[in-house]
Amino acid sequence: MRYSTTALLAAQVTFASAYQLAREYSGKNFFNGWDFFDGYDYSQSGDAMYLGQAAATSANLAYVDSSSGSVIVKVDNTTNVPWNDKRNSVEISTQDFYGIGSVFVADFAHLPYGCSVWPAFWTRGKVWPDQGEIDIIETVNLMGHNQMALHTTSGCTHTTPSSQVGSSGETNCNATSGSGCTVAEQKANSFGSDFASAGGGVFATQFDVSGIYIWFWSRADVPSTISASNTTIDPSTWGAPSAAYPTSSCEVSKYFGAQQLVLDINLCGPWANSTYSQTCGTGECYLNSVINAGSPNYDNAYFDISYIRVFSADNASVVTPSGTTTGDHTATSTGSAGTASATTSSGAMALLKSPSTLLWSSAVTLLLTYLAGN
Ligand SMILES: *[C@@H]1O[C@H](CO)[C@@H](O)[C@H](O)[C@H]1NC(C)=O
Ligand SMILES: *[C@@H]1O[C@H](CO)[C@@H](O)[C@H](O)[C@H]1NC(C)=O
Ligand SMILES: *[C@@H]1O[C@H](CO)[C@@H](O)[C@H](O)[C@H]1NC(C)=O
Ligand SMILES: *[C@@H]1O[C@H](CO)[C@@H](O)[C@H](O)[C@H]1NC(C)=O
Ligand SMILES: *[C@@H]1O[C@H](CO)[C@@H](O)[C@H](O)[C@H]1NC(C)=O
Repeated sequence: MRYSTTALLAAQVTFASAYQLAREYSGKNFFNGWDFFDGYDYSQSGDAMYLGQAAATSANLAYVDSSSGSVIVKVDNTTNVPWNDKRNSVEISTQDFYGIGSVFVADFAHLPYGCSVWPAFWTRGKVWPDQGEIDIIETVNLMGHNQMALHTTSGCTHTTPSSQVGSSGETNCNATSGSGCTVAEQKANSFGSDFASAGGGVFATQFDVSGIYIWFWSRADVPSTISASNTTIDPSTWGAPSAAYPTSSCEVSKYFGAQQLVLDINLCGPWANSTYSQTCGTGECYLNSVINAGSPNYDNAYFDISYIRVFSADNASVVTPSGTTTGDHTATSTGSAGTASATTSSGAMALLKSPSTLLWSSAVTLLLTYLAGN
């Protein structure tokens, strides 16, 4: 039996680029599709008071800059907060939940930082921790780098692939035992004033049956496949991720349900408070930073978001607030991926989408060797 080499390779290339834009949050419509958490978050015991949408909008803590189109989500830096009060801030989450087979790409010009500031860009399933949590950006105070993590129920651990760029910390992802399984970013400019002065950067997360992978690029290093393309993306060209959680020791489909995206800026709380002295000097987090004048301490406590995009593979689900589940591919398909996917098991598709370029190139080599012999 003979196959055409070019046809088979074309089929593979189709898989590798089979992530289609499913949703874009940006510009004047950014806040459509997000809910504002309204009130105090007792689960985190922080010192932020989250405002509902109307209050956050009128306090200018969540708005779209009409000239640049950039989206600002920030902590109140104009109020004199008396002792025993909380400081106003924002927490928003997407109404839609995105299933396994999704890639989240987020471009920021600025991330929140400052003493007591505890920002996060993360995802969570409907039931926590049963359906998992992925922390894409999370830092406290004046920490010099981003820290990524997973939080799950008991049984998921982090086996670090040798190609991972970041440095693994805790390897037990069991949410109830603290930090989750963490990875410290090793690339420069992933957080704080360095991130901002480098022009910001892009964070991408592949939520795949083969594992969960997080990439970070400072502005100058953002791959052209991301900056030039806004309809399809191809994680197989991105090289080694900063954090890689293979499914071998944390079965993604067992520990993770469809995820919603969350952006928040908390203040103090267990992590920022207990590590306050490491980067913010003597004194207590709340007393030193949160109360009294908001400026200049909170002048940098804001996200400046260019866009957040969700890309989906053929079989990825999007669960809308009404409970409707759609395979979104039909809505965005260019029609090119359909034929090939129909004849390939989803497991093989996942393998082809895995970021391991080594796996990828050996598969191609094996295929070519096989074809040459036939
Ligand atoms: C997960 O946390 C619970 C509660 O702390 C503990 O009982 C359980 O042993 C932990 N599981 C693992 C694998 O660490
Ligand atoms: C995608 O890029 C094209 C060309 O740069 C632009 O015209 C279009 O508006 C962009 N679409 C989105 C959704 O950003
Ligand atoms: C914050 O940390 C300080 C110093 O470690 C500690 O004394 C204080 O009790 C902590 N405050 C809270 C609210 O946990
Ligand atoms: C609050 O911070 C912004 C920058 O985020 C700054 O432009 C503004 O002047 C600050 N407000 C006050 C009252 O200082
Ligand atoms: C998509 O395919 C993967 C790989 O087999 C599978 O784990 C996942 O559950 C599928 N998702 C849907 C919504 O069918």
